[in-house]
Amino acid sequence: MSLDDQFTFPFGDYEADLSPVCERLVREEPVVRVRRPDGDTAWLVTGYEEAKQALSDPRLNLLEVSTPGSRRLESTEVGPFEVDLMEVVQGTSLRKRIAQSLTPKAAETYERRLEPRIADLIDALVAAGPPAELLHGLYAPITAEFVSEWLGVDPADARRLHDQAHVAINFDTHSDDELDSVFATADAFFQDLIASKRSTPDGRLFSDLVADNDAEGSFSDEEMAKLGFSLLTNGYDTPLNAVVLLTIRLFAEPSAFGHLRQNPDELPDVLEEMMRRTPLGPSGVTVQRVATEDVVLHEKLIRPGELVLIATDVANRDPRVFAPSCPARNPDQAQLWFGHGRLSCPGRAIARMLLEMVLHHLLRRIPAIEPAKPLDSLPWRRGLLLRGVGELPVTW
Ligand code: HEM
Repeated sequence: MSLDDQFTFPFGDYEADLSPVCERLVREEPVVRVRRPDGDTAWLVTGYEEAKQALSDPRLNLLEVSTPGSRRLESTEVGPFEVDLMEVVQGTSLRKRIAQSLTPKAAETYERRLEPRIADLIDALVAAGPPAELLHGLYAPITAEFVSEWLGVDPADARRLHDQAHVAINFDTHSDDELDSVFATADAFFQDLIASKRSTPDGRLFSDLVADNDAEGSFSDEEMAKLGFSLLTNGYDTPLNAVVLLTIRLFAEPSAFGHLRQNPDELPDVLEEMMRRTPLGPSGVTVQRVATEDVVLHEKLIRPGELVLIATDVANRDPRVFAPSCPARNPDQAQLWFGHGRLSCPGRAIARMLLEMVLHHLLRRIPAIEPAKPLDSLPWRRGLLLRGVGELPVTW
């Protein structure tokens, strides 16, 4: 008997790791039909090759998710800028401007500017002595500094808007009224920012985008405000959660952590492997698409209008591809944290730079760092899209 229709998605709260149901599905039915709590159905893709195939198929569309009445992971309507901003700015000079701000060369420039600041932040932690709280004491300030350099949003504003961004990302834990108020606050902030960048351009990305758009007239100020908030959530909230999750993973795997202390030059490889093993989303799903035509995936027929949930976190541990403790060195088996194919994360070079830079400096200055509380007592935040904790107490 097929496993289709037997599962209700999501599979309960699994904060520290993936649900055991995912392990069964990836082995037995890597593309399966699941039932949503509202009774609607969706396709869940858990296999590695199947996920890559789904992510590469243009008939499985992302922007379609924002069409009114379309099926989506979110329980509320989402706008095109919140879903696929790169597609929305396609055909305008804004797309090139955003892409140019995210190249590996741009990453090197941000790294040079941020290194002295990270050194100062770690000096302050060391001077204050243990215990310390890493999320607010180091990771949030340095990520906010990055957003300031990149986007031109003041670090204090970025940190204040972080809570808004988090609500917007983890929409399912909040009421429609809360979500409306979050978007209204962010809209008002970015409308003011547009006015201030017009009067005082600063050469940062948002200022340049406002100038480009003023010359081309593609989007209204309201749309530009949505674009700004979407860039902020992508460039701030995701890498911030990511570095927290990777730190927790390293604490949870003392042998990998010990190896890294002995072999700091291997940080990029170790991090890549830690990313593969660390789920980003509580449900294992980080990416969604809607079919625009018939698509056959692993012998399953996906019909137009059907929702496809791609469980990249589960695919990253597909036992048909990855041995449990053996790092994958084959480029055809790249981990899927940043997606795959045409719509994969344009900020991945920057994200890798930020993660490596922060962990490199932290481990060099405080090699004896360890969690100050048992990892299973960490305050996990609830939400469907991005796992995270409210604090990360450490000692040394
Ligand atoms: C570890 C950190 C990060 C992870 C895991 C991540 C992951 C992703 C993924 C999976 C997507 C594609 C979603 C899809 O296929 O539907 C994406 C899109 C994107 N990411 Fe990242 N990302 C990270 C950091 C960053 C950073 C630092 C930036 C910018 C500085 C950034 C900018 C973007 C943008 C602009 C998009 C396109 C969004 C859209 O079209 O609406 N990301 N990211």
